[in-house]
Amino acid sequence: MKRLKGKNIVIGITGGIAAYKSADLTRRLMEAGASVRIVMTHAATGFVTPLTFQALSGQPVAFDNNEADADNGMQHIELARWADAIVVTPASANTIARLAHGRADNLLTALCLASEAVKCFAPAMNRVMWDDLSTQANCRTLTDKHWQQFGPASGLQACGETGEGRMMEVGDIMQALAQCFDSGELQGLNLVVTAGPTYEAIDPVRFIGNRSSGRMGYAIAEAAQHAGASVTLVSGPTHLTAPDGVQLTAVESAEEMRQAVFTQLGDCQIYISTAAVADYRVENIASRKIKKSADKLTLTLVRNDDILSLVAAHPKRPFVVGFAAETENVVDNAREKLLGKKLDMIAANDVSDSAAEHGDGQTIGFNSEYNALHVLSTADGTRVEQQYFAIARKSQLAKQLISLIAAQYKMKNQNEKNTA
Ligand code: CTP
Repeated sequence: MKRLKGKNIVIGITGGIAAYKSADLTRRLMEAGASVRIVMTHAATGFVTPLTFQALSGQPVAFDNNEADADNGMQHIELARWADAIVVTPASANTIARLAHGRADNLLTALCLASEAVKCFAPAMNRVMWDDLSTQANCRTLTDKHWQQFGPASGLQACGETGEGRMMEVGDIMQALAQCFDSGELQGLNLVVTAGPTYEAIDPVRFIGNRSSGRMGYAIAEAAQHAGASVTLVSGPTHLTAPDGVQLTAVESAEEMRQAVFTQLGDCQIYISTAAVADYRVENIASRKIKKSADKLTLTLVRNDDILSLVAAHPKRPFVVGFAAETENVVDNAREKLLGKKLDMIAANDVSDSAAEHGDGQTIGFNSEYNALHVLSTADGTRVEQQYFAIARKSQLAKQLISLIAAQYKMKNQNEKNTA
C-alpha cells in the first residue's frame, strides 16, 4: 500500500446500507498514510452520521447541507483540486446515473465533474437494480470516461437476496485504488529529473540562489516512479524529502548538477529538466568570508553551461523535456527555447506577480503547491503542438505531464523505427 502514502483521497459516500463500510475504508486509508476528506450525499446521511467520519478522518465532512457555510461556496472546486483520487463508495444506482450523465446537482456530483483526479466507484445495490440495462449502460459510460470500476462482488445482500451487486470488500478496494496510482506507462525506462535551485558560492558562507522550491521536480520524479520508471533525481538544495524508491543525488552548484547529470546519461531514455539552474557563477569564489570593508563590492559573474542544451546535443540524446519559468510572453519564449535548445518538449509556467495570485485567490508558481502549465512539443520533429494544463496541484500536473511524455516518447520511438 506504499502507493497510497501521502495521497489526498476524497471518499464520496452515497445512500446505501454499505455506507458503514466506508468507515473502515477511511480508517485503513489513513493508516496507509493517505489524507482523507469525506463528501456525503443527503441520502448517505440517513445511513451513517457525518460525525463518525469527522472523527475518523480528523476533517470536517462535506455534505450538501453545509456547502452554503463554506467560505466562498467553492467547496467543490477546492476539493476537486485537492484530490489525487475520488472514490465513490458505495456508489448507488442513482449516483452512478447522475455521474454518467454529467449532472452537478449535489456537492459530490459537482465535485466529480470539476475534478481531474483519478475517479473510482464501487457499485453497491440490489442485484436486480445492478442487472438493469440502464445501470449497466451508465457504468459503461463511466468506464469509457476513464472512471475505474471496483466490483461489485456477489453474495448475500442486505435485502436478503443473493447475487451480484454487493459492494467490493474494503481490502480489495484498497488494492484496486493503489493500482490506480501505478500506470506502468514508463515501465522499464530510466529517467533523470533535475529539480530545485542551484547555489553559486560567493565565499564560504554566502551564495547566489533563487526561489525555486523543487516541488514541481519532486512531483514529477514521484509521478514517473509511479508510472514504472527507474528515476534518478538530481536535486539542488530544497526542504523536500525524495519520494520513496527514487534515487537522489544531492548537488549545490550548476557545475555539480552538470556532472551528476552526465554521470547518469549513458543509460537514460528520458531527461526532464525542472531545475532552476543559475545561468551565472562567481568567477573567483573567495576562500575566506568577505569582510565589509569597501563601500561597494563588485562580483564578476561568468556563464554556466546550459545543461539542458548540452544533453539535447549529446550524440546519444534521450527524450529531452525542459521547463521555462517566464514573467512575460510565456508561450512565445517557451517556443523559442523549445526550438533553440532542440528539445522534444517544454513546459512553461508564468511566474509573474499577476499570475501568482489567481482570480480565485489560489497562488501558483515557485512556492505554491499549485501551478498551471503551457506544454509545447515537437511530436513529429517539425510541427509545434501546444496544450494548456489548467491550474491544479503540482502532483496532479506532474501526472498529466508524465502521461503526455510517455505517449510522445513512444510516438517518437515509433517514428524513428519507421524511418530507419
Ligand atoms: N537550464 C539548464 N542549464 C542552465 C540554465 C537552464 O539546464 N544553465 C534549463 C532549465 O532546467 C530549464 C530550461 O533550461 O529546463 C530553461 O531554463 P530558463 O532559466 O527558463 O531559461 P534560460 O535558458 O536560462 O533562459 P533565460 O534565463 O534567459 O530565460
